[in-house]
Amino acid sequence: MISPRIYLIVKALTLLGVLAFAFPFWALSAEQDGGDIWFKDTKKFAPVLFSHDKHSQVGNQCTDCHDKIFKKQAGSTDSGNAITMETLQEGQYCGTCHNKEKAFSVKGSCKKCHVKP
Ligand code: HEC
Ligand code: HEC
Ligand code: HEC
Repeated sequence: MISPRIYLIVKALTLLGVLAFAFPFWALSAEQDGGDIWFKDTKKFAPVLFSHDKHSQVGNQCTDCHDKIFKKQAGSTDSGNAITMETLQEGQYCGTCHNKEKAFSVKGSCKKCHVKP
């Protein structure tokens, strides 16, 4: 028989061991998101703000966008001017979701995306 006190000590040490083991994995899984990203190639219109915060709050997962829709580097997806209202309306980039089904449509609501900095 082990005494209750030794049992408790062993239990506490085991728990600490588990925490010390798990912590690095927890820290790794909480990857930094990309914060606020401005798209400024908008002609006479106000620039476009993309907020990682607001998209996370409505339940989007990193993998919903990365890397199949957007690369994880600001400015890289738009190389060759790929992102225009035409490609968005065809259902690419932001238009994958902003099609009136998953989120408000790119065919209206201009001022929800084009905002003053
Ligand atoms: C879901 C967000 C969103 C909505 C809604 C939206 N836009 Fe855009 N718009 C963008 C993004 C992103 C770009 C690309 C900017 C860049 O490449 O830097 C863009 C680019 C543009 C451009 C420059 C490129 C081009 O296609 O000529 C114009 C002009 C424009 N938008 C006008 C509009 C108008 C007018 C509306 C409303 C009918 C609108 N946008 C609605 C996100 C949006
Ligand atoms: C709704 C779509 C969407 C979701 C969800 C999303 N991202 Fe992004 N992310 C973007 C866009 C758009 C960009 C800019 C890409 C570009 O400009 O080419 C970006 C860029 C980034 C960048 C680069 C930032 C920089 O300054 O270069 C990182 C890092 C990133 N995202 C991480 C994440 C992580 C981690 C998550 C999940 C917690 C996440 N993203 C979820 C759309 C998204
Ligand atoms: C994976 C799906 C997805 C993609 C891709 C996506 N969004 Fe969204 N977005 C959502 C959802 C869902 C909402 C919340 C529902 C709504 O507002 O209709 C939202 C809300 C928003 C809002 C309102 C909240 C806010 O930030 O003020 C803006 C603006 C916006 N998105 C801009 C963009 C722009 C710009 C892009 C492309 C760079 C983009 N979104 C790409 C799903 C997406």
